[in-house]
Amino acid sequence: MLKALQALTACVLLSAMVATPAVAREISPQDQVKAMTRGINVLGYDPIWKDPAQARFQMRHFQVIKDGGFDAVRINLHAFSHMDADNRLDPAWLATLDRVVKSALDQKLTVILDEHNFGDCGDDPAACKPKLIAFWKQVGERYKDAPDGVVFELLNEPNKGLTDDLWNSWIAELLPVVRATNPTRNVIVGPAFWNNIDHLKQLKLPVEDRHLIATVHYYLPMEFTHQGAPWNPATPKTGVTWGTDAERQRMETDFDGVQAWAKANDRPMLLGEFGAYDKGDMASRAAYTAAAAREAEARGWAWSYWQFDSDFIAYDIKADAWVAPIHDALVPK
Ligand code: BGC
Repeated sequence: MLKALQALTACVLLSAMVATPAVAREISPQDQVKAMTRGINVLGYDPIWKDPAQARFQMRHFQVIKDGGFDAVRINLHAFSHMDADNRLDPAWLATLDRVVKSALDQKLTVILDEHNFGDCGDDPAACKPKLIAFWKQVGERYKDAPDGVVFELLNEPNKGLTDDLWNSWIAELLPVVRATNPTRNVIVGPAFWNNIDHLKQLKLPVEDRHLIATVHYYLPMEFTHQGAPWNPATPKTGVTWGTDAERQRMETDFDGVQAWAKANDRPMLLGEFGAYDKGDMASRAAYTAAAAREAEARGWAWSYWQFDSDFIAYDIKADAWVAPIHDALVPK
């Protein structure tokens, strides 16, 4: 009788396990990159995080993004200012994040959770590190059962004091924190020096972790993409165009270098940011944007345009309309 009962219990348990769909399926980073080919950065500088009532970005914009031909959103999270003295994330901030993630997933968009306190981490790595670890402990735990459409990005643009070597040592510490709760979720990691293409060769990814996507950002030449940008006073105010054969060739050569690294290291790629600031002339900005997106696609990378709203804008929230030349450049008709 006891044996029969045990057998029955085992049978019930087994069928329950089979019948329960696994929420977080395992998806290879290559397939993930294919599914998220065309993406856009969102919400980094939106008042929503401090006060949802003040949000510029509304949840319906995820549908605008999906209908606009995009597959993914890279959500830029400045989480450190939403932590208490013990580095606990504010429950209200987390509730906003839950709502944002769910609304994006409802539109079948891939969601990249990008920790974006790169300024703090470059200026004071020692102060940043415990916060970054605490962030991934909490966010890893919270989203461990999320569908595989949720992808983590350890840190946007490590820079300055967060050198190649230091960043490599952090990667080796941060990944186990994530893997404790998310053993097979795809995680995005890029090189130091602001995710610069020339620092890829210094990037050390643990060879045994096959759920990583490598990322770089591309804003070269800075004199063109950052002309008139107040945070980059080294670049000229205005008047720099883009689109000569030599300029296009440079982009291709740069991307080929990245591709060579990706092949040699067997890692799929995300071009996580690119674009040209609003002060440049629109024809050049559109040409540059289209060229970068097509060159990335030609190499099988995913890309994520910088950015939906705020500056470099692709979508005018007030006018409730795409900025046509930028949108057409990203998603050709
Ligand atoms: C930063 C933005 C900046 C952009 C281009 C992003 O990573 O968060 O503040 O506008 O890079 O420089």
